[in-house]
Amino acid sequence: EWADLMLIAPLSANTLAKMARGICDNLLLAVYLSTRCPVVFAPAMDLEMYHQTTVQQHIEDLQSIGHILIPAASGELASGLSGEGRMEEPERIVGILDQLEGRKNWMKGKKVLVSAGPTRESIDPVRYITNHSSGRMGYAIAAQAAAMGGDVTLVHGPVHLKLPKNVQEEAVVSADEMYESCMKYFAQSDVIIMSAAVADYSAVGISETKIKKSADNMVINLRKNRDILKSMGESKKKGQFLAGFALETDREEENARVKLKEKNLDMIVLNSLRDPGAGFHHATNKVSILVPDGSVEELPLMSKAEVAFEILKRIAGES
Ligand code: CTP
Repeated sequence: EWADLMLIAPLSANTLAKMARGICDNLLLAVYLSTRCPVVFAPAMDLEMYHQTTVQQHIEDLQSIGHILIPAASGELASGLSGEGRMEEPERIVGILDQLEGRKNWMKGKKVLVSAGPTRESIDPVRYITNHSSGRMGYAIAAQAAAMGGDVTLVHGPVHLKLPKNVQEEAVVSADEMYESCMKYFAQSDVIIMSAAVADYSAVGISETKIKKSADNMVINLRKNRDILKSMGESKKKGQFLAGFALETDREEENARVKLKEKNLDMIVLNSLRDPGAGFHHATNKVSILVPDGSVEELPLMSKAEVAFEILKRIAGES
């Protein structure tokens, strides 16, 4: 309980899997499950093991709850093979821990509001309109912001994700509920990051009974939902830092820049569905960060936890 940080290096595939699933059958895992401090892990295993889908999924699971990965390095392995899987050099691990000391307080004293996931707009008691958002990007941001000492509230639509450590949640269903919930926290927040894929339209008058099939064609009347981010941009009274996301399929940068301006944002994070490994349901993401002075920063393909870190680093003014 007195520790400032827990480092597990080298971390085997076996212990990694147990950590991801909450198994507690030895002293290390008992200490791990009881600790309250940030956790850093440096996996080490053979080449093919490290690349196994299940192993990569467990690494992603730990990152999604705010643990910090020190990726395995490349080189000669115990098996005689050569490639990715070696524990990172101890000197480099110590260097990374030194850097972490610095970032620990980046969100300290700040109230951070994050929106995540899709919304669900009912049509009748059995059907709804939604989208493919998994919520992983927003959860990664909430996890990193909490690890940086922020007081984090996560407003999320229907998702299948574990709530990160030290994050307060508000679960909502529809765009209207998300609007009300976000607005409740807006005035007191210092940093607001809206990553939710809010439905732009909802059904006019939800049918109380199941709609029966009849004619060959049917029309559902939709009305535009309120834009949460835009409403916030219009009433930024306290100097909140307001960041939004843009998911585009064409004329990406141009569209993102229009949103940055029209919604009065301090930053917009652009995803293109054309980039492989980016967008819905991937563990990775490839984004560009646009700010009002006209500059654009293209980040390489990285895990969603790393993207979250890079976004927060810039909001904290650390790069
Ligand atoms: N957003 C929001 N409330 C809405 C719609 C969008 O807060 N009702 C936020 C999203 O969380 C995201 C940003 O606005 O941060 C961009 O959303 P997007 O759907 O890409 O943009 P729209 O303005 O809805 O434009 P379009 O769908 O035409 O691309």
